[in-house]
Amino acid sequence: MQHYCEEELKFCQALPKIELHAHLNGSLRDATIRKLAIKRQLDPSLTKLIEKGDRTLSECFKLFDVIHQITTDHETITGIASEVVEDFAADNVRYLELRTTPKTRSEHGMTKRSYTEAVLKGMQEAQGRQRASKGRSIAVRLLLSIDRREDAAAALETVQLAAELQSRGVVGIDLSGNPTLGQWSTWEPALQEARRQGLKITLHAAEVYNPAETEAMLHFRPDRLGHMCCLDERLEALHYSTGIPVELCLSSNIITESVASYPEHHFHPFYSAGHPVILCTDDSGVFSTSLSKEFAIAAQAFQFSRLQLWQISEAAIDHTFLNEEEKQDLRKEFENARLKLQAEKCS
Ligand code: IMP
Ligand code: ZN
Repeated sequence: MQHYCEEELKFCQALPKIELHAHLNGSLRDATIRKLAIKRQLDPSLTKLIEKGDRTLSECFKLFDVIHQITTDHETITGIASEVVEDFAADNVRYLELRTTPKTRSEHGMTKRSYTEAVLKGMQEAQGRQRASKGRSIAVRLLLSIDRREDAAAALETVQLAAELQSRGVVGIDLSGNPTLGQWSTWEPALQEARRQGLKITLHAAEVYNPAETEAMLHFRPDRLGHMCCLDERLEALHYSTGIPVELCLSSNIITESVASYPEHHFHPFYSAGHPVILCTDDSGVFSTSLSKEFAIAAQAFQFSRLQLWQISEAAIDHTFLNEEEKQDLRKEFENARLKLQAEKCS
């Protein structure tokens, strides 16, 4: 069943957009995953997991492990980073905060640093091609993710790497991974260090019901939160009182069954309460979506007008991890896009 209308999708594709929650290895094209699976001679039993269809949250994490088996070397990492940036640019995303978990793979001579440099190279190559083709420009920054399977030392290594690479486009730290694993106290010291180093912080929070952890995360006061699906009334009130913006990913939450249906998604109550919300894709490859589709789905589920869609898109600029001057540039770009669309309508 299609949860959006084609006419609205066209409008959403023309809308300039900001993507703030996209995982590199979750955003691979289907065709790229298949190509890499063949090239790496992936075990056929694992290939089955790649076939599309609704997946539970735990099946998604199995799928990520499979994708990680086929995106192992530096050249592939650079290639996929470049392709993912191009895909977001083609979807009229004007600013992308891509996130990825730095990986150590001694068999490929890969360290967390060399992995991250391979990602940065792919991002730069795509942006260079975009500028050369005089196509739509896309600005990109990188967040480094701490995986919940990692221990305190590994988390700190990622933070130190991010701090060293700030001048190369790394702007923040994310905490993600299987929400049923690990303990908040393991990563909190590294996250405190990230804050001390001037990095911004976003946390995957309340993907499953874990009130003690969600409360600790809210008290930590990250710059943004992701998901916030499983809250009780007390936590919801606490969350509202913090005013921390939330990255919300409709398809991801529905497909993984964290939320029952699109109209019941918490995007709408958060939005209606005036809480800052940002529409994002999470894993556009794994969930067969795009940011334009997420906007079109929101339009249908919550009966948003085109003006509201525009306002939601533009408001995301305030919540990027950019400095004020860079945010101002993006606002100007949105204004130019608005004037261009109006002129096209009148001609
Ligand atoms: P990567 O960091 O580029 O390898 O992207 C895939 C990784 O992102 C997964 O292995 C998870 O750690 C994380 N991830 C992707 N989607 C989700 C999600 O919905 N919840 C929590 N973690 C996620
Ligand atoms: Zn995520």
